[in-house]
Amino acid sequence: MVWHKVAESRAELFGAGVDMAEVEVDGKTVLVVKVGGEMYACASKCPHAGARMKDGYLDAQGNLVCPLHRYRFDPKTGRNVSGEGYFLKRYVVKDTEDGVFVGMEEKKGIFG
Ligand code: FES
Repeated sequence: MVWHKVAESRAELFGAGVDMAEVEVDGKTVLVVKVGGEMYACASKCPHAGARMKDGYLDAQGNLVCPLHRYRFDPKTGRNVSGEGYFLKRYVVKDTEDGVFVGMEEKKGIFG
């Protein structure tokens, strides 16, 4: 696992009233969301037809709602809670004194 710094702090990532932020991690766009006091990181595109999840919203239960067909995903687990059978890829995220970091599996070389 390689940890990539994506912001100096939570406050830098989420302005007032903002609960979703896209960040670039190792060439990938990752969506970081804030639900209650917790942060979760997941794929920025919907696994159904590729809509940009940041253009959706978080519902009252903290589920991420896709802007295109309104499928709902639990950002904690990636589960498609509206039942269509998709899965939203998740990443690990941590908030430390040194900043906010997203973890990615190490890239392997063609022989590795
Ligand atoms: S593209 Fe997200 S639900 Fe269809």
